[in-house]
Amino acid sequence: MTKLIKTINEMKKISKSLKLQNKKIGFVPTMGYLHKGHLSLVECSKKENDITVVSIFVNPTQFGENEDFDKYPRDLERDLKLCEDAGVDYVFAPRASEMYPEGYSTYVIMETLTDKLCGKYRPGHFKGVLTVVNKLFNIVQPDNAYFGEKDYQQLIIIKKMVEDLNMNVNVVGCPIVREEDGLAMSSRNKYLSEEERKSALSLSKALFLAKELFEKGETNPQKLKEEMKKLILSYPLVKEIQYIEIVDPITLEEKQKVEKGDRVLLAVFVGDTRLIDNIKL
Ligand code: PAJ
Repeated sequence: MTKLIKTINEMKKISKSLKLQNKKIGFVPTMGYLHKGHLSLVECSKKENDITVVSIFVNPTQFGENEDFDKYPRDLERDLKLCEDAGVDYVFAPRASEMYPEGYSTYVIMETLTDKLCGKYRPGHFKGVLTVVNKLFNIVQPDNAYFGEKDYQQLIIIKKMVEDLNMNVNVVGCPIVREEDGLAMSSRNKYLSEEERKSALSLSKALFLAKELFEKGETNPQKLKEEMKKLILSYPLVKEIQYIEIVDPITLEEKQKVEKGDRVLLAVFVGDTRLIDNIKL
């Protein structure tokens, strides 16, 4: 039976008691509207821990003013059912007013990495992510925490926060789960119309193309990016390519010559929906 926990105090009590029983806690932080990508993290956690906790919290501090906080899809009933079927032990779903009561004023700021890629276009986003993940780690006290490579920059930044702040959590990265046709699963795919859904395929198609060209010997990032751009813009409902970058997998610095293990990342607006995806070369 999955137990729904709504308050910080109750969650803290449970974590403390689990610790006293020497139980290993695996943690999967999410913003809900769960899909197979999220559930793959749960599966990993279940294999490596005694207890799995999933948090469901649409974190207001990581959304910009003109972003989709209000319309972000929410369906706690459906999520609870999926967690139940997946064998999740606890779902922690606090209210925003509990996580950020009036007068809240402490944030986690990282001086590197957060101004690149998505951070360039979503100022303050990673400050919100790091703050909430830090808070959630303090509340849940996990031994292992699972994050998807889907949000690759987020994964790298969280790993760095844990290292920089000497936190007692092991951060585990898990591979991107895709639909059969290649589209990376995302709660935001729900925004796409049928026609937009077709154009959304341009992201993964471009990433697969880059990998193919790299494997055939192309190491010039400009050439790879040009080919990707051409392919993406050939889809009708693509409104804007926000960025395509080929970066070092740890420093996230752009590469002059592409090597095996580098990461290609992109953000594209299909209609009004901003989608991200990436691939390892
Ligand atoms: P959310 O977008 O709900 O994603 C929760 C976790 O699921 C993240 O680690 C994300 O990378 C992973 N995930 C999403 N789609 C995936 C896919 N197709 N394959 C594999 N993993 C996938 O990321 C967040 O929430 C928030 O920023 C959060 C970390 C919870 C902080 O608020």
